[in-house]
Amino acid sequence: MILVTGGAGFIGANFVLDWLAHSDEPVLNLDKLTYAGNLHNLDSLQGDARHLFVQGDIGDRALLDRLLAQHQPRAVLHFAAESHVDRSIHGPEDFIQTNVVGTFRLLEAVRQYWSALPATQKEAFRFLHVSTDEVYGTLSPDEPAFAETHQIEPNSPYSASKAASDHLVRAWHHTYGLPVVTTNCSNNYGPLHFPEKLIPLVIVNALAGKPLPIYGDGQQVRDWLYVRDHCSAIRRVLQAGRLGEVYNVGGWNEQANIDIVHTVCALLDELRPRADGQPYAAQITYVQDRPGHDRRYAIDARKLERELGWKPAETFATGIRKTVQWYLDHPEWVANVQSGAYRAWVAKQYEAVQ
Ligand code: NAD
Ligand code: DAU
Repeated sequence: MILVTGGAGFIGANFVLDWLAHSDEPVLNLDKLTYAGNLHNLDSLQGDARHLFVQGDIGDRALLDRLLAQHQPRAVLHFAAESHVDRSIHGPEDFIQTNVVGTFRLLEAVRQYWSALPATQKEAFRFLHVSTDEVYGTLSPDEPAFAETHQIEPNSPYSASKAASDHLVRAWHHTYGLPVVTTNCSNNYGPLHFPEKLIPLVIVNALAGKPLPIYGDGQQVRDWLYVRDHCSAIRRVLQAGRLGEVYNVGGWNEQANIDIVHTVCALLDELRPRADGQPYAAQITYVQDRPGHDRRYAIDARKLERELGWKPAETFATGIRKTVQWYLDHPEWVANVQSGAYRAWVAKQYEAVQ
C-alpha cells in the first residue's frame, strides 16, 4: 500500500480518488482534519476496503511509527500542509509546526522504518514530497519561467515554510540516502477546492451575490493547472522519477488574476445567469493588496516532459468549464464547508467588503 498524508484536503483528496481510479493498491490516508480537511471529499469511497483513513497529525511520532510498522507502505506521498498564503500572514505558527516540524518528524519516522526494511523493499521505497512553485519567489514580466535550478527565494511565511521542508527532504536524501523525489507545482484548480482560494471563492461569492475581491490591481500572474493533471504528474514521478531529483509541474497557462475572474464570470453568465440579467463581473470589487504579494509565477515543466513524458491533459478552457460546472452541481458540498471555521475566517479576511 501507499501512505498519503493530507488526503482529505483539496489536492490530497483528488489524488486519493485519482489513485484508486487507476489502481487497486490500497491507500492509508493520514490527515489531521484541520479546517481544510473534509472527509466529505471522500464520500464516494465509503465502504471501499482500498481506502483506510486515520485522523492524526504528521507531527505525532508515536502514531507515525505505529502506522508504518503496522501497514508497511512501499511509498509515502506527503501532501499534508498548511497551504493558504493569507492565513500564513495572519498567523505563521501553524505553518512552521506542520510544514517544517511536521515534515521533519515524518522524515525521521520514515527514515527509521525504511532503514530496517529488507534490501529489495528498501531499494523500491519512495518518499514523494509535494511542494510548490512559490518557493522560487517572484518573477518580473520578462524573466523566464522557474526551472528546477532557479534560486529558492520564498517571500511569504507559507512559502518560506515550504522551502524549509524542501530543504529537509533534500538533506535526508543526501545525508541518509532516503529515496526521495520532490515536485514543485503551480496553482491548482478544480473540484473540492476550498473556497478561501481565488477560483472557488469567486464562484461561490458570485452565486451568493457577494463581492468578488481582487487584491491590488489584479495584474498578478499565476500559472494554473487542473488538479487531476497534478495528480497524474505525481503518479508518473512516483513511478519513474529519479531519486533526489526535483520536478517542476505546471500548466503552461499564465494568466492575470483579473482575467481569471472575468473568465469565471463569463462561464457563470452562460451556465447560471443572474436573475436580474446583469453580468457577474458587476460584482468585482478591488480590495487592499496582500502584503508582500508575489507578482508573477511561471513554471518551466520541460524536465518532467523530457524525462518522464508527462504533459497536462486539460487546457484551461476545458478545465475551468468542468470546475465551474462541478461547483454548480455540488451546492451541498459548498454549504458544508461554509460552516464553522470557514465562515469565521472569511469574516475576518474580508470584513471591509462583506
Ligand atoms: P489543503 O489546505 O486543501 O489540504 C491540506 C490537508 O492537510 C488538509 O486535509 C489538512 O487537514 C491536512 N493537514 C494539515 N496539517 C496537518 C497535519 N499536521 N497532519 C496531518 N494532516 C494535516 O492543501 P492543498 O491545496 O490540497 O495542498 C496540498 C499540498 O500541495 C500542500 O503541501 C501544498 O503546499 C501543495 N501545493 C498546493 C498547490 C495549490 O495550488 N493548492 C500548488 C502546489 C503545491
Ligand atoms: O502557486 C502554488 C500555490 O498556489 C500553492 O502553493 C498554495 O498552497 C495555493 O494556495 C496557491 O497560492 P496563491 O496565493 O497563488 O493562491 P490564492 O488562490 O490564494 O490566490 C491566487 C491569486 O489571487 C493571488 O495572486 C492572490 C489573488 N487573490 C486571492 C484571493 C483569495 C485575490 O485577488 N483575491 C482573493 O480573495
